[in-house]
Amino acid sequence: TDYGTVFSSKQAWVVASHLRVEFGGQAGLAATGVRGRCQCHGHAAQCAAQARPPRCRCRHHTTGPGCESCRPSHQDWPWRPATPRHPHPCLPCSCNQHARRCRFNSELFRLSGGHSGGVCERCRHHTAGRHCHYCQPGFWRDPSQPITSPKACRACQCHPIGATGGMCNQTSGQCFCKLGVTGLTCNRCGPGYQQSHSPSMPCQRIPEVTTTLATTPIASRSDPQCQNYCNVSDTSVHMSLQRFCQQDYILRAQVLASEAAGSEWWRLALRVQAVYKQRARPVRRGGQEAWVPHADLACGCLRIRPGTDYLLLGATSAPDPTAPAHLVLDRRSLALPWRLRWSRPLRRLQQQELEGGCQGLRPPPPSQRPQ
Ligand SMILES: *[C@@H]1O[C@H](CO)[C@@H](O)[C@H](O)[C@H]1NC(C)=O
Ligand SMILES: *[C@@H]1O[C@H](CO)[C@@H](O)[C@H](O)[C@H]1NC(C)=O
Repeated sequence: TDYGTVFSSKQAWVVASHLRVEFGGQAGLAATGVRGRCQCHGHAAQCAAQARPPRCRCRHHTTGPGCESCRPSHQDWPWRPATPRHPHPCLPCSCNQHARRCRFNSELFRLSGGHSGGVCERCRHHTAGRHCHYCQPGFWRDPSQPITSPKACRACQCHPIGATGGMCNQTSGQCFCKLGVTGLTCNRCGPGYQQSHSPSMPCQRIPEVTTTLATTPIASRSDPQCQNYCNVSDTSVHMSLQRFCQQDYILRAQVLASEAAGSEWWRLALRVQAVYKQRARPVRRGGQEAWVPHADLACGCLRIRPGTDYLLLGATSAPDPTAPAHLVLDRRSLALPWRLRWSRPLRRLQQQELEGGCQGLRPPPPSQRPQ
């Protein structure tokens, strides 16, 4: 027989026909009723009877002088004595090879429906949890390693300035970044942000003016609101005398800066370098302001970058009728990056106008009249 071979007088259910007993290291066979020295609950085949007190040689992952408890690594089930029919061995806890000890929890065992009650103790390799099956805070689960690997949990490597702390997302390793910061370790500035010298806000928003002007048209040109909104054919200009005469102003100007003026208008600071045409209101060289409807910029009718020279064609009028007249650039205007070769033909047209060349060509048809 395999189990239950050590007789215990107190346990009537043990029906052992023979057993081996060690006497001073010599193993021998003895009949039943070995004077009851070893009480091994059916978990031992051998007994060191000379020892004081006599000790069982425990099997089935049991331990103790009488095999009366489970070994520290085998506490997943409650200890039970062996029977002739079933050894009732102690079962190992599943600790994913990160712990050597566990303890039995009868409540968990009950909740599991009699499946498992072991709770791993002192999980190593930065693991945690009942089965050492997840990572401690400050570590994340490396998916390239099995959970049983000593390298299953990797330390978060969060940037000391860019991250809000040393913790990271335990499945992705993504550190928690300060506003405007990006990257797995929070080591760089996100789109629209630039590096600053402030440790509390290492990335600061790039000022609206340049980003909006440079990026908005491309981003929203597909917006249904922009359909047929711009004079899209006007990517170049064929400057006839007639066209020249129909404009309110034609300038060469550098756009120095821009800022939002309320929700509907942008205000551009210009340095006017040459005036080829002016009508309703004299335009002087030097510093001037121009107004652009927000929607016309957003739809990409005009593409303007501060710091660039443009040929500007358009109308003079006021965004607000009660305000003094301003230069206005809108979807019917043109802003083309300046080409030096345009200078002489424009001077020639200017001369023709002075000589009365626009007589009879003005005013333009109402449908083409700006504003
Ligand atoms: C962690 O990352 C995973 C996968 O990228 C994501 O589904 C989850 O929401 C993240 N958790 C937190 C707390 O950010
Ligand atoms: C808009 O485009 C049409 C057709 O190309 C053109 O005739 C018209 O003059 C343009 N409008 C302005 C204000 O330039």
